[in-house]
Amino acid sequence: MTDYRRLRVALLGAGAVGSQVASLLRQHADELADRAGARLELVGIAVRDVDAKRDADLPRELFTTDADSLIVGSDIVIELMGGIEPARAYLLQAINSGADVVTANKALLATHGPEIFDAADQVGAEVYYEAAAAGAIPIIRPLRDSLAGDRVQRIMGIVNGTTNYILDRMDTEGAEFDDVLADAQRLGYAEADPTADVEGYDAAQKAAILASLAFHTTVPLDAVHREGITSIDKSMMDAARHAGYVIKLLAVCERLNEASGESISVRVYPALIDRAHPLASVHGANNAVFVQAEAAGNLMFYGAGAGGVQTASAVLGDVVSAARRHIAGGVGVGESTLANLPIVPVGRVTTSYQITLEVDDQPGVLATVAGILSEGRVSIATVEQTVVESADGESGVARLVIGTHKALEQDLSDTVERLAASGVVERVVSVLRVEGN
Ligand code: NDP
Ligand code: HSE
Repeated sequence: MTDYRRLRVALLGAGAVGSQVASLLRQHADELADRAGARLELVGIAVRDVDAKRDADLPRELFTTDADSLIVGSDIVIELMGGIEPARAYLLQAINSGADVVTANKALLATHGPEIFDAADQVGAEVYYEAAAAGAIPIIRPLRDSLAGDRVQRIMGIVNGTTNYILDRMDTEGAEFDDVLADAQRLGYAEADPTADVEGYDAAQKAAILASLAFHTTVPLDAVHREGITSIDKSMMDAARHAGYVIKLLAVCERLNEASGESISVRVYPALIDRAHPLASVHGANNAVFVQAEAAGNLMFYGAGAGGVQTASAVLGDVVSAARRHIAGGVGVGESTLANLPIVPVGRVTTSYQITLEVDDQPGVLATVAGILSEGRVSIATVEQTVVESADGESGVARLVIGTHKALEQDLSDTVERLAASGVVERVVSVLRVEGN
């Protein structure tokens, strides 16, 4: 056996992901040593309760509640506790004591990333976070390294497994939102508080991380426009299917070329995707990230966005990279925020839309609706009208599904307000963006 240098590895957290990381580190110790060029010695695991039952069989003597002491003298610190504090304080402590750090903590990076990256820069350490967006899928390294010579134009990602699972079952089985959410919680996809999933907060954190990397720009979480999927119902699913679309919660990170110069938009919302688009065939709790780059063209990254052992794969890849760097020495690669492009509000984005209205089924109504759209600079691409049936068969209400050409979001929302206030529209049933066309 090669006599490798030993690197002290401290693990903070042994939950769904941490317990699998610890288990794989021990199980594949010899192979990982050959790959890293160093023996990765797991010196301890900090948790809240040393006696809690774990998902993997790990020696009791590795566990401690004293994270501070564990960090001191470690070469690599892996943070898998989640949340902001004390994860933030421990990561800063690790960096300042000379360790390279690995984390999967999207909530922390999306809110305190610059502070952590700056601290690492100051001391020449490196922060690895492949698992912080889209779980097991390699997407951080492709954006940071493989595409470093290209210009990313756009990312469209399905980056939350829970919402994809819910929307997929609503689409394929005609299931109701509440029933499927309960299943997602039972299967362990959803966060402890599923609001983070269904209201798009989790996806927004991942979007901020991906956009920062792709556009070499610091993207604060509050610059990400966010909408969740709680308003999506069976009738919207049916209408989408009828028009040849499927509804997905998308994280869209886009470079815009406005007259005033380049800017970016980062947004998370449920959107219609053509059924022929590669993202439409992402089923269940899987994730996928579709990247459009100037020279490389279209790239698609697909796989498990969550799960203990799957996410552990991405974490261990980072640990091997951290070990190689630690052995080679030198200064870590810092985050590139050199472009720092302006981030525009969603109102400045151009997309096409599907607007569903219930209107009075009277002569001239269609012309009135078309007039309001035209005044609002929203051009109609398609219109479909059906009569809304009532118990006696004569509701006097028609349903209009209007597909638009690309329009400015601000123009569209002003126009929808005018439609809602007009005498002919009974109800704005839904307004959904169409992406990927
Ligand atoms: P869990 O909630 O399953 O585990 C958290 C672990 O951290 C537990 O072992 C817990 O200890 C420990 N911990 C929490 N707070 C403290 C504290 N104050 N001091 C010491 N230990 C603490 O989390 P996951 O494994 O699911 O997630 C870990 C990270 O990975 C998160 O940032 C998450 O966002 C990210 N991630 C998770 C994915 C997944 O599929 N689960 C996918 C991608 C990323 P104890 O067990 O004693 O309570
Ligand atoms: N709750 C998250 C999801 C876990 O559903 O994708 C992975 O970040």
